[in-house]
Amino acid sequence: MTTILATWEQPGKVAIETASRAIQDGADLRTILEKGLAACELDPELLAIGLGALPNSDGEVELDGSMMDGADLSAGAVCSVRGIVPVISVARRVMEKTPHVMIAGEQARRFAISQGFRPQNLMTAENVRRYDEWKQSPAEVERAYVHAADEHYGDTVTMIGWETPGHLVAASSTSGLAWKMPGRVGDSPIIGAGIYADDDAGAAGATGWGEELWKGMASFRAVENMRRGMNAQEACDETIRQMLRRQPRCVDMMCVVFAASKDGDFGAATTTGEFPMWICQDGKIEMRKYAAPGA
Ligand code: GLY
Repeated sequence: MTTILATWEQPGKVAIETASRAIQDGADLRTILEKGLAACELDPELLAIGLGALPNSDGEVELDGSMMDGADLSAGAVCSVRGIVPVISVARRVMEKTPHVMIAGEQARRFAISQGFRPQNLMTAENVRRYDEWKQSPAEVERAYVHAADEHYGDTVTMIGWETPGHLVAASSTSGLAWKMPGRVGDSPIIGAGIYADDDAGAAGATGWGEELWKGMASFRAVENMRRGMNAQEACDETIRQMLRRQPRCVDMMCVVFAASKDGDFGAATTTGEFPMWICQDGKIEMRKYAAPGA
């Protein structure tokens, strides 16, 4: 049996429905997650991932992606990639075709081109319009990050998949925060921050404010909590509780961690707000909402 989790209502729906079809086609876990995230990246309507995502403060779309396989801790990631989609597929190539874990920026773009990806303009009429609107408002430019969070533009899609008995893969794709400083990288492509998977314990993923999630090493911490005997919900709650204790700013924007244990239970928690997560299990798709621990 294969189960898949995907973050956020609108992009997560695209990811989970695509993943569900890939399960029916008999695809392996890596391919199921890659297809789910690639479908989001190629959808120009989704403003926080891939083609048509909201750009950085220079008006350039910069993408991050990562994948980790819990069978042997294989991992691959790319960050600050311009003009290439889907970057989740490039991250998978880094994992499978190179001895490295991460390739950054222009060199990641060149690696992608060497692997047959075609460079393209990721700016659509809609994200050019939104960028021009943002740029013309000095007050908005001043409060760039807060604006991005308020409007939920920073909705990274992170996915976890597992198949019985006890094999897990995690993957993530994002354009990061809208209007970010060029070259800024958040948690999503960072193994341990944005994703982590270890078949001995479980897998976890993060979404939301990348700086805080990275400082808290949210995904690794959740997996280590499961290794110490917590179930997935307890592991997420404890990770978020620790962030709330040690990182006072982590309530300024949503910081989310979600996890699946090697036994197949799953859960999620957020520092603030309400987090929607899609689940595809036994051929059925449903969305559940999660809050801060004890809320
Ligand atoms: N969580 C995505 C980012 O902050 O880049």
